[in-house]
Amino acid sequence: MNNGQGYVSGLEGVVAAQTRLSHVDGAHGELILAGYRVEEIAPVAPFEAMVFLLWHDRLPAAAELAQMRVELAQWRMLPTAACDLLRAAAAAQRPAMDALRMVAGVCDIDLPTDDSNDRRRDIALLARLPAAVAAYWRLSQGKTPIPPDPALGHAANYLYMLTGVAPTPARVRGLETYLNTVIDHGLNASTFAARVIIATQSDMTSAVIGALGALKGPLHGGAPGPALEMVFAIGKAEHAEAYLRARLAAGERLMGFGHRIYKVRDPRAEVLAAAAEALYATDGDRSLFELAKHVEATAVRLLAEYKPGRALQTNVEFYTALLLHGLGLPSALFTPTFALARTAGWIAHAREQLANGRLLRPASEYVGATGRRWQANATPTQLISFPSWQFPS
Ligand code: COA
Repeated sequence: MNNGQGYVSGLEGVVAAQTRLSHVDGAHGELILAGYRVEEIAPVAPFEAMVFLLWHDRLPAAAELAQMRVELAQWRMLPTAACDLLRAAAAAQRPAMDALRMVAGVCDIDLPTDDSNDRRRDIALLARLPAAVAAYWRLSQGKTPIPPDPALGHAANYLYMLTGVAPTPARVRGLETYLNTVIDHGLNASTFAARVIIATQSDMTSAVIGALGALKGPLHGGAPGPALEMVFAIGKAEHAEAYLRARLAAGERLMGFGHRIYKVRDPRAEVLAAAAEALYATDGDRSLFELAKHVEATAVRLLAEYKPGRALQTNVEFYTALLLHGLGLPSALFTPTFALARTAGWIAHAREQLANGRLLRPASEYVGATGRRWQANATPTQLISFPSWQFPS
């Protein structure tokens, strides 16, 4: 049925799904995760409880939470094919998001192809992707990957597999707050991509790989690295105004600001700023946090001046960068870490789409040429020589 709306640039305001998973109210700066306000639940819940909430529409009982932890521990070890691929990706110095996208494709190699055991596939993807990112990072640094510790939870294991050191409770809390905060966010580009793929009745791994590709771009999940670089480049509070004015005068976008939906401050920025403040109070460079706050205030003021009426505010990526940096993560892992959290949301959306949705197939408006005619021999045939190919045994 065509509702007569016609072409909508960027699909802005188009409602393409119904979901019980999250609600983004951009006018009031509210994010609801399965009924809970993000600032209520993200700073206190264990990450596994948030996953359970999205997958089952209720928080787990203690035994269910323990069971989910056991299942994740069972599936955290990587299959050999994934280890080989990560080694090759590290040797080729591919960006971490590319390595993650590649390895996601082999994370289900030891599972049946028919996708009949939904939960096992979902758990395997969620459990193995952090192990893959950590192993990839260590390999790319010339270090040996560290196997997961079955005694540690999901967030703690990620930090442990990266460093080989069991993280402090404060660091685990900081990471869990981050993962919970970004676990889901309405019909963002990567979630939409996952829903489009699964709606064809493809498989969960394909949906997650498509979503990873969408998340990689700087207009979606790729912004926190550049946001932190900007704070470092500014270096001192007194340089912020001149630096930001120069960027805006050159027509550049300030990374970590602006949002398609939020026209007030992104509530996730609030949660992550508080988590970063708590972390930097005991751990890390407090002056960096103060500098970032000054940069944020200056940027918001200048954006109002250079882009009046656009309501450009701080988005989730700005304090993501600061929090993840405080947790000791290199900026190359900021977007992959975002992906590890959002994987739980993608899976929940994909299952919801399969249960309730139809094939997603919008229409396009043709604006191309008409009446062209084929002319024989218009394109000369070239002789091309191909290299010979031998598959290694
Ligand atoms: N810095 C400077 N100007 C910005 C801006 C930013 N961060 N974000 C938007 N704008 C400007 C655009 O240049 C445009 O101005 P113009 O109309 O004068 O050309 C106007 O605001 C609208 O931008 P548009 O790209 O149409 O908005 P959008 O809804 O499509 O974009 C984002 C949303 C997130 C892609 C955009 O705000 C952005 O690029 N932000 C920086 C990247 C970022 O932080 N991404 C993470 C998102 S969570």
